[in-house]
Amino acid sequence: MVDGRLASSRVGVLGSGQVGQRLAAGFHSRGHEVMIGSRDPAKPELAEWLSGDGAGVKAGTFADTAKHGELLVLAVLGDAAEQVIADAHPENFGGKVVIDAMNPLDFSSGFPPKLSISGEDSLGERVQRALPDGRVVKAFNTIGNPFFVDPGFSEGKPTMLIAGDDKHAKQTVNDVLADFGWSDVFDIGGIEGSRELEAICIAWVKIGGARGAWDHAFKLLVG
Ligand SMILES: NC(=O)c1ccc[n+]([C@@H]2O[C@H](COP(=O)([O-])OP(=O)(O)OC[C@H]3O[C@@H](n4cnc5c(N)ncnc54)[C@H](OP(=O)(O)O)[C@@H]3O)[C@@H](O)[C@H]2O)c1
Repeated sequence: MVDGRLASSRVGVLGSGQVGQRLAAGFHSRGHEVMIGSRDPAKPELAEWLSGDGAGVKAGTFADTAKHGELLVLAVLGDAAEQVIADAHPENFGGKVVIDAMNPLDFSSGFPPKLSISGEDSLGERVQRALPDGRVVKAFNTIGNPFFVDPGFSEGKPTMLIAGDDKHAKQTVNDVLADFGWSDVFDIGGIEGSRELEAICIAWVKIGGARGAWDHAFKLLVG
């Protein structure tokens, strides 16, 4: 069940791609003070976004952004995540809720991608190990970014699957999701659940390839 709402706070979104921009704009629209992080915060495509859909969001380095946020989001290329955490300084994540929206995708053999981390490990677990004092919650990785905020589908509301070790951090993420318009959130357990959530991303991508469209999402039906 989802409660909500998250008290106004400083949010740091590490990653300036589609996912980072979508989440940064979502947090800003809900009244939070948002910084978006990039290796190059002055790059022209980011400046253009900041003067349009991203108006009101500030940009900084990964370290600036991790320092700024009371709540942090990791939204970079999965294979760059550990480098980005190192660049952002792990001590800047201490005690904070860290939403991991990433997938470890390997496109080296073309489409569909494979997982670059699988079996008895996952990117979510690697992120938690890299941030022993961070409270990591996997979320947003099983749906396309256009549906992160105010998800609307003709067949109803989708289910957001989350995983993480810290129950208070997961409550905070529930509050974020409630603010973002999610009424159905299912917590599958500890951060090792990232193994399944990251694999679900591959199924989501294959479905998109088969349909030739990307406006699909998963819904948990019970009873
Ligand atoms: N696209 C979706 O709808 C979707 C949905 C759910 C989850 N995801 C996951 O969310 C994450 C972000 O996806 P995305 O589509 O926004 O973009 P992306 O192209 O996977 O990543 C963009 C971000 O990653 C950073 N980055 C890329 N290579 C890097 C490197 N070598 N070192 C450091 N940073 C690097 C970029 O930093 P700079 O700003 O410095 O260039 C940029 O901020 C991915 O893990 C993806 O699998 C995507």
